[in-house]
Amino acid sequence: MIYDRESEKSILENQEEPLQVPGKNATTRREFFEQVSVITAGAALTTSLKSARLPLDNRFYQEEGTVEVSLFINEKKTTLELDPRVTLLDALREKLHFTGTKKGCDRGQCGACTVLLNGKRVNSCLILAGLCDDAHVTTIEGLSKGEELHPMQTAFLKHDAFQCGYCTPGQICSAIGLVKEGHAKTDEEIRELMSGNICRCGAYQNILEAIKDVQQR
Ligand code: FES
Ligand code: FES
Repeated sequence: MIYDRESEKSILENQEEPLQVPGKNATTRREFFEQVSVITAGAALTTSLKSARLPLDNRFYQEEGTVEVSLFINEKKTTLELDPRVTLLDALREKLHFTGTKKGCDRGQCGACTVLLNGKRVNSCLILAGLCDDAHVTTIEGLSKGEELHPMQTAFLKHDAFQCGYCTPGQICSAIGLVKEGHAKTDEEIRELMSGNICRCGAYQNILEAIKDVQQR
């Protein structure tokens, strides 16, 4: 017999005779099964919550391991002891105080945290620092040579490609990565390949002009 919701309904509807429980009011078979189901579901939920909580407690409070990571930040070697859950962004900002790299969304949607990792642009909020052992990281602080700005920084100034400046370190790192990749030839392609970097001030046209300026040099 195929047991489905319809046959369950018909069984329950045809068995409405009262169950006689000594010392209690008469209970229908349906009411009895409903009460048993509620009690059983409650007990199962309590058990599953207890067993679900245990591994979390163990993970966060009992295993306090760290990993050793060596990073070349702007060509200077640094070695850190880090919680393996720390992102590259937090390692840069909170441990090494390279606060030029900004935290916007912290989930890969705004591009404010863009840095160059081994020459390629990445969202540092999406990368665990522990996976970057021996990597070369370039942040906005590492672009200029003394007083001499990077050509992309000069172009951003020349074309007034920022207002509040919060997105600018990420925009500049991303723009340098884009020029190096060499895929963007038209305005549309530049816009498309820079679309991971959000500017809440809307300086997009000026950013485009700055990138084209550097491409034409
Ligand atoms: S902070 Fe990393 S993408 Fe927004
Ligand atoms: S300059 Fe303000 S967010 Fe881009």
